[in-house]
Amino acid sequence: PVTRLAAYSPPAWLVERVSLTFSLKAEATRVASEIVFVPNPARADGDHPLELDGEQLTLMAAWIDGQDVTPDITATGLTVQNVPQGGFTWTAEVEINPAANTALEGLYMSNAMYCTQCEAEGFRKITYYPDRPDVMAPFTVRIEGDLPVMLSNGNPTAQGDGWAEWHDPWPKPAYLFALVAGELVSVDDTFTTMSGRKVDLKIYVRPGDEGKCAYAMDALKRSMRWDETEYGREYDLDLFMIVAVDDFNMGAMENKGLNIFNSRYVLATPDTATDLDFERIEAIIAHEYFHNWTGNRITCRDWFQLCLKEGLTVFRDQRFTGDMRSEPVKRIDDVKMLRARQFREDSGPLAHPVRPAEYVEINNFYTATVYEKGAELIRMLWLMVGPQGYRRGTDLYFERHDGQACTIEDWLKVFEDACDIDLSQFALWYAQAGTPRVDVAEAWEDGRYTLTFTQTVPDTPGQTDKKPVPIPMAYGLLDKTGAEVAQGLHVLTQPQESLSFDLAERPVPSLLRGFSAPVTLARDVSAAEQAFLLAHDSDPFNRWEAGRAMMLEALTSDRDNAALGAGLQAVLTDETLDPAFRALTLTLPSEEEIAAHVAGRGQVVDPSAIHDRRAVVEHTIATALGDALPAVYAAMRVDGPYSPDGAAPGQRALRARLLAYLTRLDRQAVEAKAMFDTANNMTETMAALALLVSAGQAQDALAAFETKWATDALVMDKWFTVQAVATPPAQAVATVKTLTQHAAFNWKNPNRFRAVIGAFAVANPAGFHRADGSGYTLLADWLLTLDPVNPQTTARVAGAFETWRRLDRARQALIGPELERIASAPTLSRDMTEIIGRIRAA
Ligand code: ARG
Ligand code: ZN
Repeated sequence: PVTRLAAYSPPAWLVERVSLTFSLKAEATRVASEIVFVPNPARADGDHPLELDGEQLTLMAAWIDGQDVTPDITATGLTVQNVPQGGFTWTAEVEINPAANTALEGLYMSNAMYCTQCEAEGFRKITYYPDRPDVMAPFTVRIEGDLPVMLSNGNPTAQGDGWAEWHDPWPKPAYLFALVAGELVSVDDTFTTMSGRKVDLKIYVRPGDEGKCAYAMDALKRSMRWDETEYGREYDLDLFMIVAVDDFNMGAMENKGLNIFNSRYVLATPDTATDLDFERIEAIIAHEYFHNWTGNRITCRDWFQLCLKEGLTVFRDQRFTGDMRSEPVKRIDDVKMLRARQFREDSGPLAHPVRPAEYVEINNFYTATVYEKGAELIRMLWLMVGPQGYRRGTDLYFERHDGQACTIEDWLKVFEDACDIDLSQFALWYAQAGTPRVDVAEAWEDGRYTLTFTQTVPDTPGQTDKKPVPIPMAYGLLDKTGAEVAQGLHVLTQPQESLSFDLAERPVPSLLRGFSAPVTLARDVSAAEQAFLLAHDSDPFNRWEAGRAMMLEALTSDRDNAALGAGLQAVLTDETLDPAFRALTLTLPSEEEIAAHVAGRGQVVDPSAIHDRRAVVEHTIATALGDALPAVYAAMRVDGPYSPDGAAPGQRALRARLLAYLTRLDRQAVEAKAMFDTANNMTETMAALALLVSAGQAQDALAAFETKWATDALVMDKWFTVQAVATPPAQAVATVKTLTQHAAFNWKNPNRFRAVIGAFAVANPAGFHRADGSGYTLLADWLLTLDPVNPQTTARVAGAFETWRRLDRARQALIGPELERIASAPTLSRDMTEIIGRIRAA
């Protein structure tokens, strides 16, 4: 069954208000509902039956206006004919089994705690309801049970022994409903909003984890302030709660007033979390908080509009992190991620537009394209209208659409109205899949310098003959000394377009500065010019990009890389540069990035050759860095107590990067052992441990680590991952098999499954793609094991096969039968049927 954007029609019935009563019992929870339905004026097109969504529910009884009814029930919902057309009250009681819910969608149990995940379509596993985002209603909830903490959305209204009542005054779609009940404790704080209202903040965790919430709380308060100053958005309830849950399919969920988080994005101490963990916690706390306005107060009309809330909220959290930390470093990190995940998706069988036109299973569309490319589209708009125009547009968006379920058209219209701009061509970005390619040619004649840009949007599954899109091209032109002789932002709109400048000498162009559009820039650049940009470009992104381009050349051609070594040494020793930036510039492209580069040139990808070549180039660079390598390594040492903020994370990042180079030169890994032995924080411990694992020197360290952290699940995830990812290709499959036999390999826990199987399949390409095919069989076996238990997480990890068509024939011949074996499983989930079907069709 395919759902199509073009088939949208408004709901026949709206919900005026809903009350729910939960009697919690692990295997037999009763849910009583009272829902007041009113006719939707937009559907005054005749009589309508009542149609409600519902799955895996046992209906005990149902009434309409107090009269017994017997609905027609199917596996996906129920219908009642001849309901009073002027409106009516539906009352019902259903029974559900949270303890048997291993899919972690709807109401389920995690370590004896009840929790929910309703986005996108989980509420229908809780009770019969119009489970679609354009039906918004205020919720009243009563929870009965013998647990000390029982939470739902909104504000607490009453409680007693064995019960608690909640009311959420803000109309919301069912996907934002949440319920949590368990033996929890809270860490409390308050926040005073810009209008002077005091809001209680509570982070709920399991007893014993109270000491791990300080950073999340601090990040929350900074997010609340930032949304006020940057977007004029104030929080709108008296209470904001976050709950940490161990079994969760994704990162976190923005349920109104009651965000539910994967515990790995809440809990952190210097001993147990790395700098990157702290940064992600900060970003995800912000992301979910920002959804309160972009997602909750203004939601999506239907799930095709998912990027309306996700692209925008990702853009908001990216800017927040840039403000809290370093803007250029954040931009480089984001582009690395975009290229590694979204460009990969966009060039393979799973490519789809930022606003897809159809889906089988909506959970399969929480993708890098919807989130990360969706954020890039907002960013382009922001560049095109400027920061003030952008603020006028978002102000109008909140003013015009508060309380509504909206579309991308609504979003674009506010910018057309507030900024007097025509966005009809820009709208193509939402409809066309594929990464546009911009070819650049240069001419220099009689003091006139001309850049000619030619854009093409590649074909993707089901989409050909695409139109040109508006591409904001930020540029600068540099003279011989590196001084800027011109700079600006030009929006390309034509298939081919030229820009000319009258200049005294031929300049060096710095194009697509700050990565001003999510495109592939194709231009023949000499090694000398790249080295010049690496040394002189005033745009930090393009400075990094020049180094990266030189590295890609070194990794994929025989070009002499003397200039690369010298250029990197200059960056390494330039004390005016932020250590975090230096660390990024000294990092070789990942094996995935190299593979994408090779595939982009139309060549066959050999993951083993890429892995080996990368090691050689890393050795070459380490040698070229000379004495600067140990010198800067020593200088970047951070003394004193650990802090996740300020300059220290950048210094640790550079030091870890240099440790990798040092370890390339010393297979005994003496420095890595020393760092592992002396580290007083998880950042250094993990950096050292990863290098020890790749050097085959980790036996003692792994054992010591395991003894120390056996009872901390989040830290043990790291222990599993580092082995799955860093073990050299020849032993990787055997290592992963051993890990899956470990007593602590609880594969039903999504974090643990991803820590081993997911990490191996995406982050150890040479191990996964071993020429004997054993990596493929291993992954297929585990996908078949997990699918009946948790389809959502299975389908996500199955994406590891999406690149199979860029591999050599021999590898494709090994993967094909594994995909077929999965496809022919007797009871494959809808999630997996769609993903594997699309991958095989390529
Ligand atoms: N809205 C959540 C977030 O962006 C993610 C929900 C993911 N849901 C899903 N079915 N995959 O933060
Ligand atoms: Zn989100």
